Amino acid sequence: MPDSKPHCNLTNTRSVRFTAAIIVGFFCNIAFSVYAQQGNESIGYKIANERRCLLCHNPTGVNDHPKAPYLAGQKKAYLVAQMNQFKKRQQAPPGMRRVSERHHYFMDRQTQLMDQDDINLIAEYFSTYKCIPLRSNAVKSLPAPEKAKRCAFCHGQYGISPFDTYPNIAGQKELYLIDQLTAFRDSAVHGSKENRKDKRFHRMMVPAVIDLSAAEIEDIAKYYSKQSCE
Ligand code: HEC
Ligand code: HEC
Repeated sequence: MPDSKPHCNLTNTRSVRFTAAIIVGFFCNIAFSVYAQQGNESIGYKIANERRCLLCHNPTGVNDHPKAPYLAGQKKAYLVAQMNQFKKRQQAPPGMRRVSERHHYFMDRQTQLMDQDDINLIAEYFSTYKCIPLRSNAVKSLPAPEKAKRCAFCHGQYGISPFDTYPNIAGQKELYLIDQLTAFRDSAVHGSKENRKDKRFHRMMVPAVIDLSAAEIEDIAKYYSKQSCE
């Protein structure tokens, strides 16, 4: 069989090319999906977009709701924990001590529709998104209010927390910070037992805010909102 050898070689070359194409294609695919995960092609982005989270929490800062926090660059574990707190319908029975609780009429409803995978993917998307330039320009001349010193251990001197599960507060919206600090303070003063619809309680935040006046809360909120979120 004189021509069986070349024939055999041809088949070999073809199959080598075919295998190489599959391997190259496979790696290109991985490289593309790693790239895509970080941008607007990620599944987290798609879910956030479909569920209209971006109407109020747009990471580029367009169409932001004045009282909805920036989520871009926030800690993933913290975002997951917050969504689960909103989702938890059952409030702790009166008199029972608890570590934390959070409710908001709108976010409670939003999170009822989300399963754990959605929550993780959305948290991944927002936490890997870089904060917008508007938030990364710190006003360095603004002196830290005296009572902000007590926040530094948990939230960092300039609002970037060294702990994975504690939130960054640098460059966050001033109005949002005022609302949250006031909510923590009020639940600290009145106790976490009160069954209010919109509220926020956290055992660690209690000693930090219980003695703050409205004016002190405003000063502290202003200071952190002017720090760089990077
Ligand atoms: C209509 C506007 C609106 C939409 C839409 C919306 N949110 Fe919110 N979100 C808010 C507001 C307002 C707050 C602040 C709640 C509070 O004061 O406790 C908030 C708070 C949050 C927080 C807490 C962040 C922090 O720093 O503690 C997370 C996480 C969050 N939203 C995720 C989402 C996700 C995910 C979606 C989509 C499924 C979504 N939100 C849709 C308005 C909105
Ligand atoms: C002992 C640690 C600790 C100290 C001290 C502390 N915090 Fe917190 N802070 C936390 C934790 C933990 C949370 C998350 C609470 C939750 O899960 O609801 C939090 C949440 C917050 C939030 C909500 C952020 C968001 O995105 O919604 C703000 C604002 C905040 N802290 C500001 C402050 C300020 C201002 C001070 C000082 C006056 C302070 N904290 C002191 C641990 C601390």
